Amino acid sequence: MYVCVCKAVSDRRIRALAAEGRVRSLADLRRETGLGTCCGRCVPCARAVLAEAVRGAPAGPAAPLTAPAAA
Ligand code: FES
Repeated sequence: MYVCVCKAVSDRRIRALAAEGRVRSLADLRRETGLGTCCGRCVPCARAVLAEAVRGAPAGPAAPLTAPAAA
């Protein structure tokens, strides 16, 4: 679904950017996509999608890899 109609930014795009570690905040999303820079009606929905996406995304490019637990 489109989160930001003005800039044609979908929830999939937000999730993909978060998974790549490119967005962690609304400011990041604005910089990467322009989301929220026209009418601003998308901001509450974008915050919710981003929060969910960031919770499910890796901590970032510098995140340490963890070894699987020993059996
Ligand atoms: S819907 Fe996002 S700025 Fe208008």
